[in-house]
Amino acid sequence: MKVMVVGGAGYIGSHCSKILVDRGYDVVIVDNLSTGHRKAIEPRASFYEGDIRDYDFLDKVFKKENVSAVIHFAAKSLVGVSMVEPIDYFDNNVNGTLVLLKAMVANNVKKIVFSSSAAVYGEQKVFPITEEALPNPECTYGETKLQMEKMMKWADIAYGVKYVSLRYFNVAGAFPTGEIGEDHNPETHLIPLILQVPLKKRECISIFGDNYDTPDGTCIRDYIHVVDLIDAHIKALEYLMAGNNSDIFNLGSEEGFSVKEMIVTAEEVVGEKIAKKVVARRAGDPAILIASSKKAKEVLKWKPQYSLKEMIGTAYHFYQLHKDGYQDK
Ligand code: UFG
Repeated sequence: MKVMVVGGAGYIGSHCSKILVDRGYDVVIVDNLSTGHRKAIEPRASFYEGDIRDYDFLDKVFKKENVSAVIHFAAKSLVGVSMVEPIDYFDNNVNGTLVLLKAMVANNVKKIVFSSSAAVYGEQKVFPITEEALPNPECTYGETKLQMEKMMKWADIAYGVKYVSLRYFNVAGAFPTGEIGEDHNPETHLIPLILQVPLKKRECISIFGDNYDTPDGTCIRDYIHVVDLIDAHIKALEYLMAGNNSDIFNLGSEEGFSVKEMIVTAEEVVGEKIAKKVVARRAGDPAILIASSKKAKEVLKWKPQYSLKEMIGTAYHFYQLHKDGYQDK
């Protein structure tokens, strides 16, 4: 079966493309390389460089490749930047998905697995967060993901486009061989930044606030290994190919770790102390985000395998092999 991976040169998309090919799928990657890396592109896949907002480009790829389904990762995803560049985020994420759906419908491709986000939930009061919680995005990024979900809902009703929307929590780690991993510029995520200290690229890790209403005062997040996350995407793809209806699933580990706990675990993994300092809170950070993944476990028969130590360990391995990232920009 042939699958189009949109955003296949990015962190999560590159893992998806590799694992799909490993499992015997034919993969067609579409990416505009705005944040993705040429060196992260799965060599056994076909690659088309272009933007999903370009209908003619997408139409040509669909006509040439005859894919059965799409997995969609192409989105801008920095919460902070989304607050200062909202129009850019709506254009890239919402408009991009609109054009993608248009091209899919015109080419009779009616299955899509889509990367949504925990950011659609915003600040919630009940944990773990289930799919029934009322979305309440507090940043433009989360709002764009919610609108993308809504667009798919109505495209399903009108044209029968079946979708699975996967709301991720904090994705971490790298492919265990260290071939591909997370390389963002600028980097804003906690685990890569913590690891920059033992890698001698930063003097200390800044803890964004230690006066939250949590046991140790630092923010609690639910981390999931990128390989487990992709396993859920492939299960979602199989679920749609089996003729099931559209649905939404959370993907997390159901366990929360505070920023301080993350630093202690990283120290255990790398075998040395990591310098840290407490600084002011970062705008827009909810105190706690923990997912209920019960629905994905029950319906998709998904079960995450990687521990927190393995998430940090595989990420560290990638950085040891790629000291300055992919170096292709
Ligand atoms: N943090 C620090 N210091 C840092 C970096 C992060 O203390 O140098 C803290 C943050 O304040 C937060 C936690 O570490 O409490 C995790 O921060 P990340 O930036 O790694 O991840 P986020 O939780 O902000 O973001 C993730 C995804 C987003 C998604 C969001 C949903 O990366 O795409 O969860 O809230 F939208």
